Amino acid sequence: MTRSASTTVQSVDAPLTASATFLVLSITDGPSAIKKVRSTLAKISDISKNVAIRDLGASFACTVGIGSDVWDSVTGLPRPAELHPFREVKGNVHTAVSTLGDLLFHIRAERRDLCFEFERQLMDLLGDSVSVVDETIGFRYFDLRDLLGFVDGTANPVGPAVPPSVLVAEEDAPAIGGSYIVIQKYLHDLKAWRTLSTEKQEAIIGRTKLDNVELDDVAEGQQAAHKTLATIEDENGDEYSILRDNMPFGAPGAGEFGTYFIGYSRRLWVIEKMLERMFIGEPPGLHDRILDFSTAVTGTVFFAPSASLLTSLDDE
Ligand code: HEM
Repeated sequence: MTRSASTTVQSVDAPLTASATFLVLSITDGPSAIKKVRSTLAKISDISKNVAIRDLGASFACTVGIGSDVWDSVTGLPRPAELHPFREVKGNVHTAVSTLGDLLFHIRAERRDLCFEFERQLMDLLGDSVSVVDETIGFRYFDLRDLLGFVDGTANPVGPAVPPSVLVAEEDAPAIGGSYIVIQKYLHDLKAWRTLSTEKQEAIIGRTKLDNVELDDVAEGQQAAHKTLATIEDENGDEYSILRDNMPFGAPGAGEFGTYFIGYSRRLWVIEKMLERMFIGEPPGLHDRILDFSTAVTGTVFFAPSASLLTSLDDE
């Protein structure tokens, strides 16, 4: 994706694929670790090409996010205006926790082996400059369903609507072509979810389960559906969209069933507002009922700079 002659943006608009790896790393102490991280990030485009060429039909893509705490030391460049660590959101019942993470690699492909191979080459280069905070392998579940059984990603912007929702523009010149990323790993209580009738589940999500049709909003002041709480509008009623690439993950033998939430946005405050409306509720007290069946175990903010910025990090 190219924005102007001088700024090439990362593939934040890559399609949802059959497989994805969400790799969160922390950088070990010391200047040699930072140096190694910088030289590795500068090579991301090369390693991506190494792997993508093995099957050009597999839509391989990797997006790199850099966390607030290490932005200065890794890039040595001005900070994106809104970049700060994930701010915990504490509702009466549920909390969006804030957890550590310096680097995010969002690796996607139609084939699991390509994601694996990229991660192997990446970890070889990074060596002991990093430690793994979390590694989650997501998979496509039927027709883009989450493990709650609903089609997930429908309201995403498409085509020309993607860049204005996702990419920082002239409002923050040094960060132009970049994107804020928020990740949260959710674990579901599927046993409890399954005790609900389909109608109750549909009211919680705000769409029908089988054919994915949007339900009408309830009257103001009543318990709102997830899709309503996650809709942020300006004073003219125009929506601030974000791009979500959520993936299911889990291991039935271990009783683990999850959704890995990942949202890309031009404006961090939009995702933060969505989280407030979900966890605190709108009106306050009427939190998103999805949370009664889904526990957020991580929460981290990153900034995906332009691809040209990543390539420029090589000190040599
Ligand atoms: C809509 C699932 C967490 C933001 C939806 C939909 C589903 C869904 C099934 C309706 C279809 C669609 O438009 O994609 C989930 C699950 C989550 C989760 C299973 C985790 C347990 C979040 C979080 C955010 C978010 C944490 C933002 C902070 C949105 C937005 C929409 C949406 C913006 C579209 C609303 C609209 O304009 O209709 N989600 N979601 N979701 N979700 Fe989530």
